[in-house]
Amino acid sequence: MPEIPSNAADHVPEQFSTAAENHLKRKTALAPMGELLIGADHGGFTLKKALVEHLRRKGIAVRDFGCHSEESCDYPDTAFKVAAEVAKGHRGVLICGTGIGMSIAANKVRGVRAALCHDERTARLSREHNDANLLALGGRTTDVELAKRILDVWLSTSFAGERHGMRVGKITSYEAAQ
Ligand code: RB5
Repeated sequence: MPEIPSNAADHVPEQFSTAAENHLKRKTALAPMGELLIGADHGGFTLKKALVEHLRRKGIAVRDFGCHSEESCDYPDTAFKVAAEVAKGHRGVLICGTGIGMSIAANKVRGVRAALCHDERTARLSREHNDANLLALGGRTTDVELAKRILDVWLSTSFAGERHGMRVGKITSYEAAQ
């Protein structure tokens, strides 16, 4: 993990400075890995099932927020439940048909930085640059084996801090002022 320079927040505008500095100091906004939260709608159900098995085989505790079948349901309902817990410091994964609806809904919750990732590179960068605390995936757009690799990279990559901390801090400050 790179060291955060002490002057990294010097050019942060006054109204952003406190949250930006706080984010910089934290290096990573994620709490130590405990339980991973996961949720899906009917479009993400099959991929969720495969990822839950994958995670449990790796010894990672998972809290499954449903859905539990391919019966039609509304992605915002699950997105808001998982996102509310992620905002308290957990990590989460949300899956719908494309991942788009889940990411839009989850990003409405203060403190959530949901990233829709389609490959290992975007997964890594969403952690290094954006400190994403929620991974969104498309159950109808992303193959199961690729999704497993995306998830593994996402879980094992740390936030890079430094200038990225200042930028994420600006988002946090903007959100806090709403
Ligand atoms: C459900 O048909 C589909 O719209 C949903 O899973 C998701 O892709 C929305 O963004």
